[in-house]
Amino acid sequence: MMHMTVLGIETSCDETSAAVVNDQAILSNIIRTQTIHQNYGGVVPEFASRAHLKQLVPIINMALAEAELSLCDLDGIAVTHGPGLAGSLLVGLGVAKGLALSLNIPFIGVNHIEGHIVAGAGESPAIDHPYIAMVASGGHSLLIFVEKPCSYKIIGQTIDDAAGEAFDKVAKVLELGYPGGPLIEKKAREGNDQAVNFPRALLDKNNLDFSFSGLKTSVLYYVQNKKRRAETFSVADVAASFQKAVVDVLVEKSFRALGLYGCKQLVLAGGVIRNSALRAEFESRCAREQIVLRIPDPVLCTDNAGMIARAGHFRLQRGERSDFGLDVHPNLSIERDLA
Ligand code: KG4
Ligand code: ZN
Repeated sequence: MMHMTVLGIETSCDETSAAVVNDQAILSNIIRTQTIHQNYGGVVPEFASRAHLKQLVPIINMALAEAELSLCDLDGIAVTHGPGLAGSLLVGLGVAKGLALSLNIPFIGVNHIEGHIVAGAGESPAIDHPYIAMVASGGHSLLIFVEKPCSYKIIGQTIDDAAGEAFDKVAKVLELGYPGGPLIEKKAREGNDQAVNFPRALLDKNNLDFSFSGLKTSVLYYVQNKKRRAETFSVADVAASFQKAVVDVLVEKSFRALGLYGCKQLVLAGGVIRNSALRAEFESRCAREQIVLRIPDPVLCTDNAGMIARAGHFRLQRGERSDFGLDVHPNLSIERDLA
């Protein structure tokens, strides 16, 4: 195998990130979370694109400096080209094409979700196939059957809100701030997760889909009722009980998928996987049921270019290349390779 040094670029949402990998080893992974959106309680697409435009090239230079390499050491470029915000993706893809053109090296468009999955699956030693990937991020809740490398079959997904979106919305209801995941986790540590019995949707049905919108609404009604009756309630208890409801569903559905597909290996992916209560639940259940579990390092869970560089490196090694006509795909599906 020829060794390859690949620059990864990630600009799909509100993290501007560049990373350098040598084979699957991450030499640097610079991530800047845009702070401007905090004033708006959510990502404002135009602000995101402009912040990427300002920050991306300096961040690429930082990633190269930290890896103690220069542009001429690169053998390829990996860049997220979907799914995500069109204007944000355009910034990363434009820069990637410019670099590939001027350095005369190949580039590859990477699916952001594949990046999340490969973040954990790419850890050495490489995980065997087949495995189940459970992706829980701000935009996605997916169960994916990965039968062989680069072959992804969606076997379950959310019918309404994503898991991370539910964390963000409930944090707003509880007036904890944005982004909600880490703030709920912190608050939940002081609370009792059995205090309120929030609904766990679709658990009785024999399917692998998720629904988190009803859970969010029931937290909202709980809080509104308490306020209307001028009763006090513990925000920590509500946060802990809500978090437990999400974790229970994600664990239960993942194990249902493992059973249905006869898999013994599970890869967790996405920003919500940073949650330590979730990690603990998955770890103990996997130990009990003898399932091999891969959880990426917390920095590799939320959006970062290290995961994109890893996924792109793997595809470049297989001889895959994108051409300069490549466009961004805001709704890009992970199943594209099955076609
Ligand atoms: O994967 P990611 O960085 O971006 C997307 O591709 O969507 O995920 C961000 C999501 C946000 O909804 C955020 O609230 C959630 O991940 N998140 C968490 C935690 N840290 C981030 N959710 C629960 N617990 C956490 N500690
Ligand atoms: Zn993501």
